[in-house]
Amino acid sequence: GSTPHRRTKVGTNLQALIDQARRPSSSAEIVVVVSNRPGVQGLKRAALAGIPTRVVDHKLFGSRAEFDSTINAVLEEFGVELVCLAGFMRILTGTFVRKWNGKLLNIHPSLLPSFKGVNAQKQALQAGVRVAGCTVHFVAEEVDAGAIIVQEAVPVLVGDTEDSLSDRIKEAEHRAFPSALELVASGTVCLGKDGHIEWKPLK
Ligand code: GRF
Repeated sequence: GSTPHRRTKVGTNLQALIDQARRPSSSAEIVVVVSNRPGVQGLKRAALAGIPTRVVDHKLFGSRAEFDSTINAVLEEFGVELVCLAGFMRILTGTFVRKWNGKLLNIHPSLLPSFKGVNAQKQALQAGVRVAGCTVHFVAEEVDAGAIIVQEAVPVLVGDTEDSLSDRIKEAEHRAFPSALELVASGTVCLGKDGHIEWKPLK
């Protein structure tokens, strides 16, 4: 394409989660931020917020299993109860996903089950849909599957580019991910044994 490469803001979902967890009303506390890439913006955002950070560089491991077990060890070291994948672009092993079943959240820039995988925004434009959006879901072994916690729709506008649509979806992501975090951290929503979402009954 002829569109010049644009460096969009990154680590923005992490920032939205940090901002949410700082609210006095929040049920969540962010105890550690783990990145597989050294020097990324998310690590700076965490450090600025006074949150401990760890880098587990996937390039230093011979296998996914060894990488994942190192991540797992870090999470256990910090007593983590819930993991949010925010801009984390690596596929986790079945062992890891099963271990964290019901405690592992991911955000995807489409209204799942449409447009799984990379370039979800481009897929939406190519399909010609008039409504796009984002999905926060529990991670299942199948990529971009798993029980849906929160979705937010945004319109696709005439003249939208991948960048303009991605920006609109990201604004929705920054609302959806914090909402999903609160729903799970507060125990309002959990993953049921059958793999479906369960809402705590209203008292
Ligand atoms: C988001 O669009 C997310 O859905 C996708 O990658 C992007 C990360 O953005 N997986 P940021 O780094 O949180 O700003």
